[in-house]
Amino acid sequence: MNTPRGAVARRVLLGISGGVAAYKACELTRLLVKAGHQVQVAMTEAATRFVGPVTLQALSGRAVALDIWQPLRASGMDHIDLVREADALVVAPASADLLARAACGMGDDLLATLLLARDAVPTLLAPAMNRAMWAHPAVQRNAARLRADGVRLAGPASGEQACGEVGEGRMLEPEALLWEIEALWQPQLLQGLRVLLTAGPTFEPWDAVRGLSNRSSGKMGWALARAAWEAGAEVVLVAGPSALAPPHGVRVVAVETALQMRQAVQDELSGARCDVFIAAAAVADWRPREVQPGKIKKEPGRAPQLPELEANPDILAEVAARGDAPFCVGFAAEAGDLLVNARAKRERKGVPLLVGNLGPQTFGRDDNACVLLDAQGERELPRMPKLDLARRLVQEIASRLPARQG
Ligand code: CTP
Repeated sequence: MNTPRGAVARRVLLGISGGVAAYKACELTRLLVKAGHQVQVAMTEAATRFVGPVTLQALSGRAVALDIWQPLRASGMDHIDLVREADALVVAPASADLLARAACGMGDDLLATLLLARDAVPTLLAPAMNRAMWAHPAVQRNAARLRADGVRLAGPASGEQACGEVGEGRMLEPEALLWEIEALWQPQLLQGLRVLLTAGPTFEPWDAVRGLSNRSSGKMGWALARAAWEAGAEVVLVAGPSALAPPHGVRVVAVETALQMRQAVQDELSGARCDVFIAAAAVADWRPREVQPGKIKKEPGRAPQLPELEANPDILAEVAARGDAPFCVGFAAEAGDLLVNARAKRERKGVPLLVGNLGPQTFGRDDNACVLLDAQGERELPRMPKLDLARRLVQEIASRLPARQG
């Protein structure tokens, strides 16, 4: 996952309870600070057996809150003041013991008391424990109770555990937790909706090692997948070849060619209801008519004949023309005459919303500027980080969806 720096800096109160995964809280602190957020760490006594408070102090740039009886604040009321100053309360790792204490509303140490005093502060717990402990009915009861109390539980993930066993109980990786934390602050504009996206380039093979492609990195589509997930949608990303890691929380269908992308999109559309389709992929317009078997070898003094090309299907236009078409959003990657070309493209593809941008000024970059075109007219969005732009586009899309019941 790649995390472009967002525009808004927030204050995160990061609680660490006792578990091996406490070492990952160091990396989480670093990522939060790198993303521009302020971090105040609070550790349980057990957590200090796993990582030293000095490490967290150095990474956060702030003294670590450790003991309710030795407060950092002059008021002597750390358990109130620290949580009142926070935009989010996060506990990572959250041990079985911490979950039990929080579910019962105990206040037997500083971290438990912070969880009691949290009031309306968005709160996220990242459970981490042995798989049998996580599966224990008492732990599941506590997790359910906490969810019912309005706490967001992130993870645990499945995989190899520090104890050598394999199963569900691993703490989410720090990068995924960063996404979960930043999602706490996003309005749930797409809650309950299903969003299908295409993103990245396609690669059209010519022989076993060569082919046609383009400069799309996938960054804008990945950012849109993340922004839609943050807004509460179930997201499926049909992704062409990209160096980017799969986005957290999103189901990825990896494809290579335009024909595979089209098939994957059709399968998704016929598999389940889809509310929004966003075509962010830079689909290759043509593919070699024939794929040569093996590798075309060099012949001295003679360049090989270029392959004959045939047109790829227009995936977006096909989806927009369906009787059961979801709300369709297209992109226009132009090299000039942006408005004229984008207007014509919106008409031609029959989509309600088109995002026009200049390919050479967006491909591979972390920021982008664009113009929105719909039936009402055009509006420019200034250059900003792709994640911020994606969040703006999610707002624009949500505001155009038919009003929902209930
Ligand atoms: N698109 C698509 N299938 C294609 C070509 C494009 O789904 N075979 C989608 C893109 O994902 C994008 C929009 O259509 O949302 C416009 O893509 P773009 O490459 O800008 O335009 P083209 O239709 O390829 O037209 P041109 O190359 O002439 O600009």
